Amino acid sequence: MTNHDAARESDPSTNELVERRYGAAHPGPLADGNATINLQLRHRSVRKFLPAEVTDAQLELIVAAAQSGSQSSNLQVWSVVAVRDQARKDRISAALGGHPYIEHCSVFLVWTADFNRNTRIVEAAHGTEVDSVGYLENTLVSFVDSGIAGQNALLAAESLGLGGVFVGSVRNNPLELSRELNLPEYVFPVVGLAVGVPDPTERASTKPRLPQRAVLHHEQYDAGAWESASREYEQHLADYYADYGRENYSWAFTLNRRIGSVEGMHGRHQIREWLAAKGFDSE
Ligand SMILES: Cc1cc2nc3c(=O)[nH]c(=O)nc-3n(C[C@H](O)[C@H](O)[C@H](O)COP(=O)(O)O)c2cc1C
Repeated sequence: MTNHDAARESDPSTNELVERRYGAAHPGPLADGNATINLQLRHRSVRKFLPAEVTDAQLELIVAAAQSGSQSSNLQVWSVVAVRDQARKDRISAALGGHPYIEHCSVFLVWTADFNRNTRIVEAAHGTEVDSVGYLENTLVSFVDSGIAGQNALLAAESLGLGGVFVGSVRNNPLELSRELNLPEYVFPVVGLAVGVPDPTERASTKPRLPQRAVLHHEQYDAGAWESASREYEQHLADYYADYGRENYSWAFTLNRRIGSVEGMHGRHQIREWLAAKGFDSE
């Protein structure tokens, strides 16, 4: 690799990053990119970490970025539990089915929908009971806002040279996780985020996404847009996985395994009961 190539590799242009995301077929962005967008375009999940710490100062910045995200009605109905203790990370991993990225990350962040704090505040200020937490709308509000916070956090971590992966399997066993983290009533684990210093030997890179015409509709939804776009993507993603030694990958097959039957939900079809057990009755 020449020095020029090395410089390009460390600081690729927006056009190159867009091409990595969509493949050569994409005509390229119409507008100029910038450092923020380039960071977003460079995202990849990191599941292999070096044994190095995310510092408390970095964590503080990451959470400040998370809290800077928009908040429905400024309710701020989420909290995050940062787990660094090795024995606790190991127990959490075991409870969720065993995930090396939880065991080996520096800090495991559990984003929770949290109506507990606001309920206490209203009760203390007004002496009245709060009775809307059980409605599905409020569950959705707290889940959406937790996701927005988590993504802001991951982007902030990536900007610091860290990496991470979201962990939806916290919802495989939310009640056990709630016991482990001492989550009170009206607090429910939404998603985990394993964060650490990326191990450069991990065999992964920019994972292709669907062609934009599949997801971007102008003025009205185009119900036929999926067809040619998904055929193209099927090949593109298969090529990506083949580069890492996984032959004959099929996205449609993976989708079918995940959404084709209830078995693909890893037990999460019971989530209504689990939510209710924590006060989110989802009426
Ligand atoms: C809400 C959410 C939950 C996820 N849960 C998991 C998980 O439990 N385990 C995992 O390995 N990756 C998980 N991921 C990561 C996705 O698999 C990953 O983002 C996707 O395959 C695209 O790859 P990329 O992030 O490298 O671009 C999750 C992502 C999101 C957004």
